[in-house]
Amino acid sequence: MQRSGVLDGVGDVRKLSLSAIPTREAHGTAVMVEPRYFDRVYKINPYMEGSIDRDRARTQWEHLRETLESCADDVRVLDPRETQELVDDVTAPLASNRPDMVFVANHALPTPTGEGFVLARMATDERAGEPRHFAAWARRQGYDVATAPAATFEGMGDALWHPGRELLWGGYGVRSEREAYDELVDRLDVPLISLELTSEYYYHLDVSLAPLSESTALVQPEAFTDDALAKIAAVFETVLEAPPAESTAALAVNLEVFDGSVVLGTEAPETTQLLEGAGFDVVTVDTGEFQKAGGSVCCLTLTAGTPS
Ligand code: ARG
Repeated sequence: MQRSGVLDGVGDVRKLSLSAIPTREAHGTAVMVEPRYFDRVYKINPYMEGSIDRDRARTQWEHLRETLESCADDVRVLDPRETQELVDDVTAPLASNRPDMVFVANHALPTPTGEGFVLARMATDERAGEPRHFAAWARRQGYDVATAPAATFEGMGDALWHPGRELLWGGYGVRSEREAYDELVDRLDVPLISLELTSEYYYHLDVSLAPLSESTALVQPEAFTDDALAKIAAVFETVLEAPPAESTAALAVNLEVFDGSVVLGTEAPETTQLLEGAGFDVVTVDTGEFQKAGGSVCCLTLTAGTPS
């Protein structure tokens, strides 16, 4: 059986045998955060420009929720008004300082079974207070919630489960720190393949790599070092390369997959063709308002299991 630990070297990743890694059931629950306070009031990534049409954002978010309801087993929604009561918040009122809280993928990472979460430690002061709200909500739902690693770690923005296996992919270098993964693998007792990110435009792993199935991934090569690309190619039999223009203008890699159905956040014809050619069904919803804050479908969704 593959031992837990961080695999940094390409050679070690080449030696990895997927079939020796314990299998993992897909996480069928989609967690979302209500866009009640969503806005763009600061700039912490290169996409953050312009003003948000908040009514339009609400309509887009509702449409994404309906879409996820049709393909996930369950959709659970965190309402920030409720967590405000649960959290002893020492900073400014929620309405003015949680405009990015809707991007729930950054709040935590689900455990292999999805019955619990490891909390995030945000890289920016602007978002530092958000995981406390997520923790209060998740505990109330019955999930086990573990504290954040000591190093910066932006949850499922940077750590993604390999479909079907107890194997993690961990992005670092822009937001999350490589050191976070030593602590994470010790706690979760799983192997993790580290991937160095190199571009502010691909500031999280989930805008750079989408593991679609056990054997297929969608990748934006410009996001990674050569070593990171070699590690991805060593594990996935099929690596689809997303067109750079759609990876930025449409955040096309930032998608969700449920049972072979891919949910994309903006019309991305070339990426759609690639995905359909590889046998996936593609559903497109419009996340245009959220893209003005640098996030799309994957950032707006946190996958999990059901509490035990
Ligand atoms: N404005 C947010 C930030 O810069 C967007 C987060 C997007 N989330 C993601 N999982 N990529 O942190």
